[in-house]
Amino acid sequence: MTGGLVVSVSGKGGVGKSTVTVLLLKSLLDAGKGSILVVDADPDSNLADLLNVEAGLTVATIAARLKKDIAEGKFPPDFSKRDYFESKVFEVLCEEEGFDLLVMGRGEGEGCYCAVNDLLTNILDTLSKNYDYTLMDMEAGLEHLSRRTDRDVDVMVIVVDGSRLSQLTAKRIKEVAKEVHINFKRIVAVGNKVPPELGENLTEKVESLGLEFLGIIPNDQTIVSYELEGRSLLELPKDSPAVKAAREIASKIGLI
Ligand SMILES: Nc1ncnc2c1ncn2[C@@H]1O[C@H](COP(=O)(O)OP(=O)(O)OP(=O)(O)O)[C@@H](O)[C@H]1O
Ligand SMILES: [Mg+2]
Repeated sequence: MTGGLVVSVSGKGGVGKSTVTVLLLKSLLDAGKGSILVVDADPDSNLADLLNVEAGLTVATIAARLKKDIAEGKFPPDFSKRDYFESKVFEVLCEEEGFDLLVMGRGEGEGCYCAVNDLLTNILDTLSKNYDYTLMDMEAGLEHLSRRTDRDVDVMVIVVDGSRLSQLTAKRIKEVAKEVHINFKRIVAVGNKVPPELGENLTEKVESLGLEFLGIIPNDQTIVSYELEGRSLLELPKDSPAVKAAREIASKIGLI
């Protein structure tokens, strides 16, 4: 099995990565297509909150347990950490309606975080092969690139808002990916929380960075109120401006 489409969402802090991830998920769910894995790869994660689901165990927790068990000599020296971890990851997967959610979580203690990332990256390429679509909500900034969490990503979606800083981050993501030899099949940008009248200007700026611009998700007050009420963004009305815009973007990405 070759696996499905792996899409990862990155960008500067607070631009709307998690929101865009959920909106893309909603487009997929509304289209009723295929099996879906959602990965919350942000250690300061809140994707489960946006989806209003109970996040159970995280990958970081099982990695910490594994580390402890090894330190206590509970395993024979020749056992495969990877096999063990792989079997455990299935226990961490939360089965939701229409998709599975994997929460990476935060490493405990020094050094652990990187180890978790290594394991997660290895596990992700195995795991994502079982799904038609994998959506990954990355942490803010560039670190995930040097950790190579996104090495098997087909489409890197970089979210920008109207700010110059978010565009600078987009530029760096493109450059650093090249430096660390991550070859996304496609690297695209999406504007979020941008007033439509600034659309043309943003398109030009983003294209001058060498990124394909897929459109804008407008500032949508429904998102703000759902978030405040703790309602899942998956329940947003299908005709709300952000959901409609996300659907078009999902189609351009090739998700629907
Ligand atoms: N299109 C939108 N319209 C209105 N509000 C939005 C929109 N997109 C995001 N927001 C709001 O902006 C805030 C930041 O969004 P979000 O958490 O998705 O960003 P993020 O990039 O994932 O942040 P972090 O870097 O902390 O992970 C949230 O309060 C969210 O509700
Ligand atoms: Mg986020």
